[in-house]
Amino acid sequence: MDIVDSGEHGTLVTRRSGPLDGEVRIGGAKNSVLKLMAACLLAEGRHVLANVPDISDVSLMCELLEAMGVTVTRADHRLVIDVPAELNTEAPYHLVERMRASIVVLGPLLGRFGTARVALPGGDDFGPRPIDMHLRALESLGATFSTAHGDISGTAAVLRGTEVVLEYPSVGATENVLMAAVRAKGRTLIVNPAREPEIGDLVEFLNRMGAEIGWAGDRLAIDGVDRLAPARAPEGYAVIADRIEAATYLAAAGICGGSVFLRHAVAGHMTMLIRKLTEMGMHIVADDEGVRATVTRRLSSADISTLPYPGLATDYKPFLVTLLTTAEGVGIVTENIFTGRFRYIDELRRMGADIRTEGHHAVVRGVERLSGAPVRAHDIRAGAALVMAGLAAEGETEIAGAAHIDRGYEDLAGKLAGLGATITRR
Ligand code: UD1
Repeated sequence: MDIVDSGEHGTLVTRRSGPLDGEVRIGGAKNSVLKLMAACLLAEGRHVLANVPDISDVSLMCELLEAMGVTVTRADHRLVIDVPAELNTEAPYHLVERMRASIVVLGPLLGRFGTARVALPGGDDFGPRPIDMHLRALESLGATFSTAHGDISGTAAVLRGTEVVLEYPSVGATENVLMAAVRAKGRTLIVNPAREPEIGDLVEFLNRMGAEIGWAGDRLAIDGVDRLAPARAPEGYAVIADRIEAATYLAAAGICGGSVFLRHAVAGHMTMLIRKLTEMGMHIVADDEGVRATVTRRLSSADISTLPYPGLATDYKPFLVTLLTTAEGVGIVTENIFTGRFRYIDELRRMGADIRTEGHHAVVRGVERLSGAPVRAHDIRAGAALVMAGLAAEGETEIAGAAHIDRGYEDLAGKLAGLGATITRR
């Protein structure tokens, strides 16, 4: 398995660009495929996933599955995942530490084997990423947990369906409960589940594996089954389109101007974002093939507040802040999901952005021009946002830490260059 080095290597170099023109293909969703890969652990046999993005987080999840005894082959945006009858049910620290999404193996391992040991994820650039809700929810199904030596060990002689109330619609907790409850005895009702499109994709995939999951109003009802099998899809189960990747290219059009078509983007998964960008002055139309954005003038500022789906995703925020840096007027940005997610703002300031932060708020006053500077990417989306800023800046911008961007983007530089942006990789 080829692993893209997730160290700090790689620098992207940008120059002021625009107007952009052309078409970009939106790939499969990172935040879906990683969870579908974990779901494969629930059933012995050969699983095939299609529309799999070529990103290094997928490589890491392959490594994690392989460490458990699974065989994975990857070619042409497809994954063939052969899951044996017996698995090593441990997720080691050196992998979990590099990718927090690894915690979603907990649910399927408990669901199928009644035992799991997963290294506790540490903090990251977003601040702490607790898993207390995951554990409380799994405990209500009958699992018990203990921690030692930095690992969390869970056991469940039998999981029993029950009402699981999430005090917050956590994406990760909803996924872990879903993947445990599909094998529990009886019915589980998740009250206040996350409703992100990627949750819908996981529900669809699990149902194709033989699970019985449905929406009961705004709750998720799961009737446990005794056995699951690989989804029957010879060409592979196609992962949904990545709405965050789509948002990235919408932001590129917003900041550089021009007309860009995002093939395969699903407007219905980005309703609130499209509304916000339209309010700022972008013209966005959608059809079955994708989404077209046209920008002919300097954008106007707007206020932004992140919320669980269908609200504006926290992952969109770095792009929106970047758009505000050169928009006309003042925008107030409020982060409600991860309070620590403002570190890239120091980098934007180095490029001449006028941003003040206080607690989980940022006040962005648009300036006429940003100024190119050496900056550093500290996470995937913030890294992509710095690239956008570089496309709006006078002179050259060097974005170090491009490996962070590779975790979630397939060929960001190539796709932007295809639209006419000036960007190269060193
Ligand atoms: C989050 C985002 C998701 C995004 C992903 C990757 C939300 C609601 N979730 O998912 O859209 O794609 O990051 O960037 O926007 N929390 C706890 N205890 C827990 C679990 C979570 O306190 O056990 C808190 C978190 O600290 C955070 C909030 O709940 O403030 C949302 O967390 P959650 O949805 O679980 O995060 P991810 O699954 O990582």
